[in-house]
Amino acid sequence: MKKDVMILTGAGQIGMAIARRMGAGMKIVIGDKKPENAQAIAKIMKDAGFDVEAMEMDLSSRASIKKLIAKAQEYGEIAMLVNAAGVSPSQAPVEAILKVDLYGTAVLLEEVGKVIKEGGVGVTISSQSGHRMPALTPEEDEQLACTPAEELLELDILQPKNIKDTLHAYQMAKRCNEKRVMAESVKWGEKGARVNSISPGIVVTPLAIDEFNGPRGDFYKNMFAKCPAGRPGTADEIANVAELLMSDKGAFITGADFLIDGGATASYFYGPLKPEA
Ligand SMILES: NC(=O)c1ccc[n+]([C@@H]2O[C@H](COP(=O)([O-])OP(=O)(O)OC[C@H]3O[C@@H](n4cnc5c(N)ncnc54)[C@H](O)[C@@H]3O)[C@@H](O)[C@H]2O)c1
Repeated sequence: MKKDVMILTGAGQIGMAIARRMGAGMKIVIGDKKPENAQAIAKIMKDAGFDVEAMEMDLSSRASIKKLIAKAQEYGEIAMLVNAAGVSPSQAPVEAILKVDLYGTAVLLEEVGKVIKEGGVGVTISSQSGHRMPALTPEEDEQLACTPAEELLELDILQPKNIKDTLHAYQMAKRCNEKRVMAESVKWGEKGARVNSISPGIVVTPLAIDEFNGPRGDFYKNMFAKCPAGRPGTADEIANVAELLMSDKGAFITGADFLIDGGATASYFYGPLKPEA
């Protein structure tokens, strides 16, 4: 029997929380670069009654993304995309962050946009980091939004001389995610589908724990101590926003980005997290 299919990329805590919230009754195809992560999440979800298939896939490869989509289509039409794959500034060098988080996300949104079912919905996980970086020029924003995916990494603003460090690469990637979602929402709209991004603050997951234990650990601990919420978030709280965006209640929301960070960005600009001048 054909079922509506959800593609989940990134078998982490955020991805699983969203898939569990939205995926009942669907075929859920999970792709992750680490097959053991995909299998571990698939096991938890199968044990909880979900219909899940785990696959190895690499978000930084168009061929791998197409293979995942082709596999998903064997089960039915793709009705949902949840992109929660990514690498953080402490996990990978500049080049890998740009290739996975920036280029890979752009390709995934493009490829799924070609085949998404009418009425389908997608979310991609960006980050508060994209909101914290100073504004880019309108021309730079448009380059990130509209440059063909295969030419993105050749943009001058993404060349090594213009990227200070891995945090800067991550910020650029996440800013690009938000801009890509805006541009893609126009194309997805032609198919009667919607796509949005969610920009979480610090959410306790293995990726965040790597950050807490990495070179910027104190920076992160200070961030959640001094944000209005006074704590990091949980993946299930991110799923609350995804549920709004992916359900009929979000029918008028597309091409948008939702910051959910316990107020950390607000505090960064106008409160105790403001960097000293
Ligand atoms: N946890 C946070 O505090 C936080 C905050 C803001 C944004 N995010 C974003 O949320 C997303 C999910 O993060 P998480 O915290 O759930 O992390 P996680 O480490 O729990 O999961 C990320 C998953 O992505 C997979 N992955 C990495 N590179 C890949 C590739 N090239 N192809 C396919 N899969 C790949 C990893 O193997 C891992 O299973 C990321 O994009 C991250 O940048 C996380």
